[in-house]
Amino acid sequence: MSHEELLARHRRVMPSWLALYYQRPIELVDGKGCRVTDGEGNGYLDFFGGILVTMVGYNLPEVVEAVRDQAGRMVHTSTLYLIRQQVELAERIAALSGIPDAKVFFTNSGTEANEAALLLATTARRSNQVLALRNSYHGRSFAAMGVTGNRGWSPSSLTPVNVSYVNGAYPYRSPFAHLPDDEYVKACVDDLRDVIDTTTAGAVACMVAEPIQGVGGFATPPDGLFGAMKEVLDRHGILFVSDEVQTGWGRTGGHFWGYQAHGLVPDAITFAKGLGNGLAIGGVVARPELMDAVQANSISTFGGNPLAARAALAVLDYLREHDLQANARAVGARLRAGLEALAARHPAVGDVRGKGLMLAVELVEPGGKTPDPAAAARAQEAAREGGLLVGKGGLYGNVLRIAPPLVVTEAEADEGLEILAAALAATERDVQDGQGS
Ligand SMILES: Cc1ncc(COP(=O)(O)O)c(C=O)c1O
Repeated sequence: MSHEELLARHRRVMPSWLALYYQRPIELVDGKGCRVTDGEGNGYLDFFGGILVTMVGYNLPEVVEAVRDQAGRMVHTSTLYLIRQQVELAERIAALSGIPDAKVFFTNSGTEANEAALLLATTARRSNQVLALRNSYHGRSFAAMGVTGNRGWSPSSLTPVNVSYVNGAYPYRSPFAHLPDDEYVKACVDDLRDVIDTTTAGAVACMVAEPIQGVGGFATPPDGLFGAMKEVLDRHGILFVSDEVQTGWGRTGGHFWGYQAHGLVPDAITFAKGLGNGLAIGGVVARPELMDAVQANSISTFGGNPLAARAALAVLDYLREHDLQANARAVGARLRAGLEALAARHPAVGDVRGKGLMLAVELVEPGGKTPDPAAAARAQEAAREGGLLVGKGGLYGNVLRIAPPLVVTEAEADEGLEILAAALAATERDVQDGQGS
């Protein structure tokens, strides 16, 4: 069946608010490594991996075999029974977390992971007050939407948490954008102090932050910002939750977790996306007394079931044995250098940012910072026509997000850069020809 027919069926039965990429949306039906094939037989280099989920590449034999073997034995039992794969995975994640004596609770998604972290923090601190960052995205439940600081991803204002939004995560569009990094950090910390003093009452449960904002367009604050903020939080006993749903597992190259660039140890870390390489698994890893603060039963029926946990173990094995964090660092540096070279040639590129294999290009109207979402849409479309899939996002939808699987090679990075260069050139020609909007 053609994409067109499938799209018509999709539109009839799927919600209107479920956005699809591209003027003519595509179905991806096959994949190997960093390459995918669509339902009409076209091949692409995939630099978005199903929103940073396909972390060790498509069809990796080590993961496929583990899933096949587990599926033939036991898919699901529920946490009413001991789950060997889940216990082993929890031990591995606790040891990797950097949190002393950590405990782990498994969920099916990043949303539920954040929901669980908020439950822990609000229970432990006996407060529903939470600090979140402007331009953040934390998921689609009422609490996760509540701590989301982006109108485009806030379909409801109903929320169980009382939230104050803090400055700092998005330097390019910050009121402190003109400051050098050290003064920027100081200004944000002063602002945080002010937010706490002027907008909160009594105990505040926690601050939740993405070390690099995902949906927010890979907005990247200066290293050390959250560590400096934590000194203020510590004075009030406010817990720090690091949402590592996009930044975890070595993607940022320099560190295994995004928080490690900030000189702090979080009280809890939430994770999801890449861990299962497509199998649904997420969770929260936290200090033991925080995890155990919950005083009633709580369960995730599917969370960390034998199949998902086994897949995650295979993913972690591969990740560590092949040092994919080092690959993210090396290939990421090459990609970034290429993107910066493109920025030098194209005045529509307002900002290149990110770390490792989590890189973004923000498109603006040349000569200023006015967001140009139409240019981003055209560049994304042109990249697809050239055989490259990239993501799009940011507060104004004007940011291209480049986040290939962590197994991407230098040759693939160069190939992707070439396609992107042609896509940006075509976009610029369109604007000059007056097709811009
Ligand atoms: C940083 C972050 N947290 C949480 C979520 C929510 O995860 P999920 O879509 O698996 O519920 C996302 C999803 O994009 C995310 O990027």
